[in-house]
Amino acid sequence: MAVDVILGLQWGDEGKGKIVDFLAEKYDLVCRFQGGPNAGHTIKIDGKKHVLHTIPSGIFRPDIINVIGNGVVLDPITMVKELKALEDSDIDYLPRLLVSRKAHLIVPTHRYLDAASEAAKGLSKIGSTLKGIGPAYMDKTGRNGLRVGDLTAEDFENKYKIIKEKHLGLIRLYPEIDFDLEYEEENFFECIEKIKSLTFINSEYYVNQALTDGKTILAEGAQGSMLDIDFGTYPYVTSSNTISAGVCSGLGIAPNKVREVIGIAKAYCTRVGSGPFPTELLEETGEKLRQVGKEFGATTGRPRRCGWIDIPQLLYTIMLNGVTQIVITKLDVLDTFEEISVAAHYAYDGRTTNELPFDIVDKNIDPQLIHFEGWNESLDHITSFDSLPQRARDYIGQLEKLLKTRISMVSTGPEREKLFVS
Ligand code: GDP
Ligand code: IMO
Ligand code: MG
Repeated sequence: MAVDVILGLQWGDEGKGKIVDFLAEKYDLVCRFQGGPNAGHTIKIDGKKHVLHTIPSGIFRPDIINVIGNGVVLDPITMVKELKALEDSDIDYLPRLLVSRKAHLIVPTHRYLDAASEAAKGLSKIGSTLKGIGPAYMDKTGRNGLRVGDLTAEDFENKYKIIKEKHLGLIRLYPEIDFDLEYEEENFFECIEKIKSLTFINSEYYVNQALTDGKTILAEGAQGSMLDIDFGTYPYVTSSNTISAGVCSGLGIAPNKVREVIGIAKAYCTRVGSGPFPTELLEETGEKLRQVGKEFGATTGRPRRCGWIDIPQLLYTIMLNGVTQIVITKLDVLDTFEEISVAAHYAYDGRTTNELPFDIVDKNIDPQLIHFEGWNESLDHITSFDSLPQRARDYIGQLEKLLKTRISMVSTGPEREKLFVS
């Protein structure tokens, strides 16, 4: 009957994949509504690590239908790699994976355009994952895009040729980059044949019918709210609406169908790629968070920038998304910190405030830190929220007060079972 949403409240990599996988069994459908293979959602089950990029994180739960919505951009080449990884793990995805005909396609030249655009920006580059996301969404909004439903059209090759020629013309305007289009194109067309074995659906009808039939949907966000095209730290953002509003346009669901908005935040904060990060720690504390938290990108392997949790930033994304409950992940990463800090407010332009400035990219923000004593013990043995050390519970309690929102669960390890209801 209703749609619940899981999305990231920071700059991505909050642990959305783990939480979606954990909660998925309570739902009938798990649907991705935006983004594409720039996402890397990690799930650890029975000691084995799986990383999903385009496929929804409900795929490891038998009986649950997984839908790739119209708001997603799909690269047949990456998608086939994901499908093969599922086959290697004996996951029978075929009857449970459905793809919207209206999802847009990423073609090889989108990736080249991404690389060329970043090369042209030089030092002010976005730090894109170079998966072709920006150029694919540009073609969508520019009304030139190719969609999954086009794959079965008789003149698909011709449609592809038109867009490819347009891209090659654009690439000539940028600094030269290396690519082997002939090889990539052959691979692309081979992968398309495999993609065509998946079930394509008119997903807006499918999901609305599911709701009419009394089914429940978990909408899975990619990236984080601070990377939202409208409200993120523009231009250092991705090219889709990562906030809860994206669920409606990315699945064809009306706003009054959305029930819970579950925001995921780490117990600290990370960002990968360029752009402002007010609480970033550039010295050894940041390095310690990176090493203990294994903060290296699931898609690109790049080291993630690390810092303290940021209350004004979270209040902003709680507001934008209408968050009804928060899940705090990676609490265990703070186990060995004598002192844990939190940015309670920002100071800039001679005032203290919780408001993020329009010119956050240029502004020198001085985060006003408050400090908590660490719990200094391993959370490895934890079996319930109540068995957390008192100081860890106090930290969660303080965050709840500062964020004025219920923290419904805490995660203390990458494994499926290390998640506790508070
Ligand atoms: P996503 O993009 O939001 O799904 O997050 P990623 O998968 O990119 O990054 C989260 C990383 O943290 C992954 O390696 C997870 O396995 C790991 N992880 C998730 N929750 C926890 C946790 O509570 N503790 C620890 N130590 N690792 C976690
Ligand atoms: P998940 O779903 C973290 C970042 C990139 C770059 C900016 C734009 O795993 O949380 P793009 O490839 O979209 O052009 O990159 O956004 N970015 C992410 N950072 N997690 C992600 O996804 C990200 N997807 C994109 O690093 O700064
Ligand atoms: Mg990730």
